Amino acid sequence: MAEYTLKLRRYNPESGEAPFWEEFQIELEPHRSVLEGILKVKAEIDGSVGIRCSCRAAICGSCGVRINGRAGLACHTHLGHAADSGVHADGRTITVEPMGNMPILKDLIVDMDAVHWKKIQRVTPWLINKEPVPEREYIVPHENMVDVTQTMACIQCGACVSDCLSMEVDPLFVGPAASARAYRFVGDPRDAEQYERVKDLAEDRHGIYDCTHCFNCIEACPKGVAPMSQIMRLRRVAGADHGIVDRNNGHRHEQAFVTLVKEGGLLHEAELLPRSYGGDSWFGKFHPAAGQELLSSLPVITTALLRGKVTPKGVLAPHKLPKDALAAVQAITEKVERRRPRNELNLYITGYDDSPGAGDGDVHPLAADGDAMTSAPGPNPHRPTSASESESA
Ligand code: SF4
Ligand code: SF4
Ligand code: FES
Repeated sequence: MAEYTLKLRRYNPESGEAPFWEEFQIELEPHRSVLEGILKVKAEIDGSVGIRCSCRAAICGSCGVRINGRAGLACHTHLGHAADSGVHADGRTITVEPMGNMPILKDLIVDMDAVHWKKIQRVTPWLINKEPVPEREYIVPHENMVDVTQTMACIQCGACVSDCLSMEVDPLFVGPAASARAYRFVGDPRDAEQYERVKDLAEDRHGIYDCTHCFNCIEACPKGVAPMSQIMRLRRVAGADHGIVDRNNGHRHEQAFVTLVKEGGLLHEAELLPRSYGGDSWFGKFHPAAGQELLSSLPVITTALLRGKVTPKGVLAPHKLPKDALAAVQAITEKVERRRPRNELNLYITGYDDSPGAGDGDVHPLAADGDAMTSAPGPNPHRPTSASESESA
């Protein structure tokens, strides 16, 4: 047994009082979960503490909270681990508060309907099947099912939504969980509307190009869904496969980024903006759209100049790499570009079909030479799969 201080964020909108912190002392074994600690408080000290839970086994996704400032499942976090995380110097205090980016209903319970489920509904979270419907079943290629298994692992807990930095700035952002859900169907060859789905999410001002790659959703997810990676896949399908040049300039921005690094070995920030808006070449800056954007950015640029964050020399003469270093960067980009069309598999397996005869075991047959793709814990990617198998969520 060990002693812990559970510092819970309390809030009851009906009371009219502001939120406050309340501490409870409990004794439990370190391997017991934070949820068990909260339920002990509820059973023995204060029955009014609000927490949502059900399975207590990291399956139902009900008990999402912020533990020591980071989103996660209360039933999937050991008391001992949370207390030892170094956040609180005494090694026994654990703070638990409701998840972020969602309105609080009571204490640790947030309104998932108002944000999370609304966004999930936004991406048409069901299969729009191709016609004609086969008499028995659709046979889905093995690789395609491997690809979508990662998104199927989502338990809709909302932890990624809670910690999404873009959503904090733009609450209308479609967000990590809904984007991962969208990829679930974009990556499914039975779906009839892949183009429409990615076009919709690319053109939406709050869609896939609203993500700032902060990695928070990857860290928060208790199921390894890696929502940010699914967003990057959606972008690749939209930009590379369907050639969608979106009105948010997201695809052009990515292209400009790659071209600038390829040309100079380093990013030339002053060129990035005009190329993102006006086209991926030196002439991009003369495009009316680039001029308009530069004009509207003038206050920011002026402040940056005044504070010395940008210098006229830096704008006109970008950093230069030594010749051999530049050649090395260009060799890498050429190697990547020479690759055959990519296999869009999941995080457990990723790579290119350079060596179809490669062995079994931990290395997938689709592993590229020198880019061994190893199986990580998760759904078994080698298991034969048919379309008739059911989803986990
Ligand atoms: S990586 Fe993108 S989607 Fe994920 S938390 Fe950050 S901004 Fe949100
Ligand atoms: S992607 Fe992960 S963190 Fe987000 S809702 Fe699904 S399981 Fe939870
Ligand atoms: S109670 Fe079901 S996931 Fe925690």
